[in-house]
Amino acid sequence: MDQSGGRGLPRHVAIIMDGNGRWAKLQGKPRQAGHKAGADSVRAVIEESATSGIEVLTLFAFSSENWKRPEKEVSFLMDLFLRALNREVNLLDEQGIRFRVIGDRSNLSTKLVETITDAEERTAGNSGMVLQLAFSYGGRWDIVQAAQKAAQMVADGQLSAEDIDENIFSQQLSFSDLPEVDLFIRTGGELRISNFILWQAAYAEFYFTDTLWPDFSVDSLRSALEDYANRERRFGRTSDQLEVKDAKA
Ligand code: IPE
Ligand code: IPE
Ligand code: MG
Repeated sequence: MDQSGGRGLPRHVAIIMDGNGRWAKLQGKPRQAGHKAGADSVRAVIEESATSGIEVLTLFAFSSENWKRPEKEVSFLMDLFLRALNREVNLLDEQGIRFRVIGDRSNLSTKLVETITDAEERTAGNSGMVLQLAFSYGGRWDIVQAAQKAAQMVADGQLSAEDIDENIFSQQLSFSDLPEVDLFIRTGGELRISNFILWQAAYAEFYFTDTLWPDFSVDSLRSALEDYANRERRFGRTSDQLEVKDAKA
């Protein structure tokens, strides 16, 4: 497990981008206007993260549960993602960003899956920040698909059930090849995880802000990073133990 301490820059930041609908309502506009305005915050946060040296940025854009929203809103969000991807992929590529999507693709349109795959393949060789969009993603879905893969390995005789430990299990989860999530941000004021990364957030530092996602600016991100830098990450140890380790380093 990566145990990068606080007191510095997080390697991996994950964000629940919440509050688009309320933002629109406050402006007397339809929810869709909030989602469009949210897309501008996405762009600003990607640029700032990449320039500040964050290695991985994971953004929660559409959850397993968001399929329960009115059909009109769901199709608007699908379309917004497709168009944003088509529009932005060149820029992401020029900036050396590696783009990926995590989530259940089985219920996405063929067109969207193709566009995602193209963007992933085009940017796979880049060496800059990894940008992961969690789309049709749920933490429970991720754990279940990992369990299925592990069970299949046992069925195929590659593994025995008692060999499954935390390490082998976590290798079956999404983005197991990337550093652990250090900083987990939620905008929009709710104090919950809403089925975003579960296993992978085991030792993340949480940062909740009332700022609605379309209002989340470069300065808002900087404030979150500053807050993170002042955390002491103990990973079960005592403060004294960490001081000994720091003194040796
Ligand atoms: C987050 O904003 C975007 C998605 C979940 C797609 P919301 O649409 O949840 O906005 P609120 O929470 O209703 O304000
Ligand atoms: C979480 O926000 C999902 C995303 C931001 C993509 P929701 O608005 O769906 O969460 P709940 O329903 O309020 O918990
Ligand atoms: Mg919401």
